[in-house]
Amino acid sequence: MTELHSDDYANAEDAADPLRSFRNEFLIPRHGDREQAYFCGNSLGLQPKGARAHVEEVLDKWAMEAVEGHFTGQAQWMPYHELVREPLAHVVGAQPSEVVAMNSLTANLHLMMVSFYQPSIERTAILIEAGSFPSDRYAVESQLRYRGLPPELCLIEVQPDEPNGTVSMQHLERTIAEHGPRLAMVLWPGVQYRTGQGFDLKEIARLGHNAGAIVGFDLAHAAGNLPLQLHDSGADFAVWCHYKYMNSGPGAVAGCFVHERHANSTRPRFAGWWGHRQSTRFRMGPEFEPTPGAEGWQLSNPPILGLAPLRASLELFERAGMEALRAKSLQLTGYLESLIRERLSAKLQIVTPDEPERRGCQLSLRVAGGREQGRSLFDFLATQGVLGDWREPDVIRISPAPFYNNHADVVRFVRAVEAWQTS
Ligand SMILES: Cc1ncc(COP(=O)(O)O)c(C=O)c1O
Repeated sequence: MTELHSDDYANAEDAADPLRSFRNEFLIPRHGDREQAYFCGNSLGLQPKGARAHVEEVLDKWAMEAVEGHFTGQAQWMPYHELVREPLAHVVGAQPSEVVAMNSLTANLHLMMVSFYQPSIERTAILIEAGSFPSDRYAVESQLRYRGLPPELCLIEVQPDEPNGTVSMQHLERTIAEHGPRLAMVLWPGVQYRTGQGFDLKEIARLGHNAGAIVGFDLAHAAGNLPLQLHDSGADFAVWCHYKYMNSGPGAVAGCFVHERHANSTRPRFAGWWGHRQSTRFRMGPEFEPTPGAEGWQLSNPPILGLAPLRASLELFERAGMEALRAKSLQLTGYLESLIRERLSAKLQIVTPDEPERRGCQLSLRVAGGREQGRSLFDFLATQGVLGDWREPDVIRISPAPFYNNHADVVRFVRAVEAWQTS
């Protein structure tokens, strides 16, 4: 029988992979005379080969047509953001009018909270996870202070209740119920950045809404990783970035979702001219009249050069489909998990939940012996061309991305850890 960790097994699985050709759509960094085993899509996804052509198209148009580029050709700049609307809606399971690509994640989070966090006398509290991504915490805390509310009283942080630092739904449900009457907003991640835990967004939206709160999601680690159904989840809003699993480049233009029921919202918002109704925007009138839907939260005319790689990436998502990507992701991360359990369990502890429905592609690993051993392994992996990333205090994140990783990469990771063990 072919052993699970053998090249034969890995190569056979890769040959049978229906998405195998997509690896060749990406530029994989090199390590010496071979490709890296790149497991860092949770941080920065690889460059689609098509990105350069889209960026060059914008540069050429600018060179040759200058201001006329706003109005000419198929990819004219005036409605350029609309080119990404439908494919983006497919990736996150939304209606096209519910999504917009704009700004950065944290900026979008602030814009959403300006509209959707509306504290009343009884309801002032925002519930987040303890250990949330720092930018989310800073954003939430600064929104509270901006409204003259003390974070010590109004910020509720849900502590992990499971041994590896993950949070059970029962615990989350209890905490939401406990604070229900004073909750104004629940802000929760789709996938937790440090532990890799994935959450049932529909259930969290249901619990938050039942308690009378607004529910928003940070999908930085979920977009392009899990097949989301944002519309059906019922969430009020969501924000995410496009530089991780969305492969759109460093600091890429981010994403934002506003549920259809808020399409014509009269909630307060921080407005800008690009959010004004398209048909009358250029009358340049003094009164702001929002475009219905998520686009009504836009501030500025979009950075076309920044949107160009997102177009290239979304073309790949359209071709592959989130369901097929997830099927491969389940297989690949399951393979990584099996090999770690079979061969590396004396050294590596998997922090991420075992249940595939409670995680995306990332496995977060702790190394026996603590932080120093962890750093030692992490540094050794890099010398072998195996790239994960490190999150303080002691976690190595390894994320096989179904677009460009394969079983052979996973075997390389395992062999590198074994070499470190014996070194
Ligand atoms: C979970 C999470 N939230 C927020 C951010 C901040 O994103 P940005 O710098 O794009 O605002 C990140 C960045 O990695 C993240 O991982």
